[in-house]
Amino acid sequence: MADTKKLFIKTYGCQMNVYDSERMAEAMGSKGYTEVSSPEEADMILLNTCHIREKAAEKVYSELGRLKTLKTDKPDLKIGVAGCVAQAEGEEIMRRQPAVDLVVGPQSYHRLPEMEEKIQTGRKALDTDFPEEDKFDHLKSRPKAKRGPTAFLTVQEGCDKFCAFCVVPYTRGAEVSRPASRIVTEARDLVERGVREITLLGQNVNAYHGAADDGFDTSLAQLIWQLDKIDGLERIRFTTSHPNDMTDDLIEAHGTCDKLMPYLHLPVQSGSNRILKAMNRKHTAEEYLKVIERIRAARPDIMLSGDFIVGFPGETDQDFEDTMSLIRATNYGSAFSFKYSTRPGTPAAEKPQVDDGVASERLQRLQTLISEQQRAGQDSMVGRKVKVLFEKRGRREGQLIGKSEYLHATHAFAPDHLLGEVAEVLITASETNSLTGELVSS
Ligand code: SAH
Ligand code: SF4
Ligand code: F3S
Repeated sequence: MADTKKLFIKTYGCQMNVYDSERMAEAMGSKGYTEVSSPEEADMILLNTCHIREKAAEKVYSELGRLKTLKTDKPDLKIGVAGCVAQAEGEEIMRRQPAVDLVVGPQSYHRLPEMEEKIQTGRKALDTDFPEEDKFDHLKSRPKAKRGPTAFLTVQEGCDKFCAFCVVPYTRGAEVSRPASRIVTEARDLVERGVREITLLGQNVNAYHGAADDGFDTSLAQLIWQLDKIDGLERIRFTTSHPNDMTDDLIEAHGTCDKLMPYLHLPVQSGSNRILKAMNRKHTAEEYLKVIERIRAARPDIMLSGDFIVGFPGETDQDFEDTMSLIRATNYGSAFSFKYSTRPGTPAAEKPQVDDGVASERLQRLQTLISEQQRAGQDSMVGRKVKVLFEKRGRREGQLIGKSEYLHATHAFAPDHLLGEVAEVLITASETNSLTGELVSS
């Protein structure tokens, strides 16, 4: 190749950004860029950013401040900002940090190669449109190189739910689903390259309603059944779901589709009906618990996880206790929890805020409870046989590490040929953050 340049991408935020970063690297591959693992080596640096909480957004500016100094030794170095901060703040980013050459929003990644040409001429490039064309159609088909056994695949993007605290409907735009046939083709392609587990991604993945070739809407469950037919694909997961979109066919698939893994991330945010209403979640705590009950009836061993926000404007001690009760009633395998962060332009930002000390104390209590549940869930695996998809070598010689169907990191002594394969493991110990087991010979 005549002109090999080096690209460094740093990814913040959710799994969709991880997927997008991969696709951006592929798109830039067509311009002669290869990916490198440190900013010092790069001719171009892209930060793929997250706007979900204030801290996430501010991190970008401090990183840009550090990266700009690299331009002193390498004046041709280009710096770009992609992702949700790019979408939310646009030109403001270049004003705050003039070293930035390029700003590209999540729906315009297919235009990145043209933008790169523009910045090579010393101009700046900005694109935060929500274009008509489907970026996925314009992104190059994926290269055939072999890759690791797990992959993300975006099936749906954007959100129409407008929770009162959340920037996603503004940064990612309205809900759009990709056609089922394209997803199946991409999944087949990934499997040919060695992928055994695919996690379907969407900001509201279970609101997926893609067009099928026969013209009918395809639900997420129907899409899962189509993927189930792909030989060599052994595991399917999906994230993130909204409780109101847990349809009957999706719940049923958890009981009947062997490839669908028994782990479900189903955020509820709060256990107080008053707060859920103020958050515009459009469901009650009881309705959420009912959904959980139905999922557990379909798949009794399912591991659940969730997201919680504490200190949402107006949250009282009683509201918080209601959240703790919901957590006790659900019993999570893990959960993410956050202190409410005021996001400009969202409805909740206008409301009186909860005292920061109170919110911190609540967060700590909530996290202690979740940790206990997580610990108990992980410990309960000891003595059980699980199936592990081995992803890499462990730190100890001869040991491989992978994930069980319940997403627990699991170590076992196993031969190298099992890398990238699923094998049965008898769990013998539960450590701080992982399980240890012995390979069950088949
Ligand atoms: N679409 C997903 C995830 C959205 S963002 C869903 O609906 O569940 C991931 C998590 O970040 C959310 O579930 C929420 O718990 C948290 N989050 C979003 N906005 C927030 C804010 N303003 N402050 C604190 N946490 C927030
Ligand atoms: Fe944000 Fe709510 Fe949409 Fe999730 S459902 S992305 S929390 S607005
Ligand atoms: Fe963050 Fe955007 Fe994902 S705000 S969580 S990167 S959708």
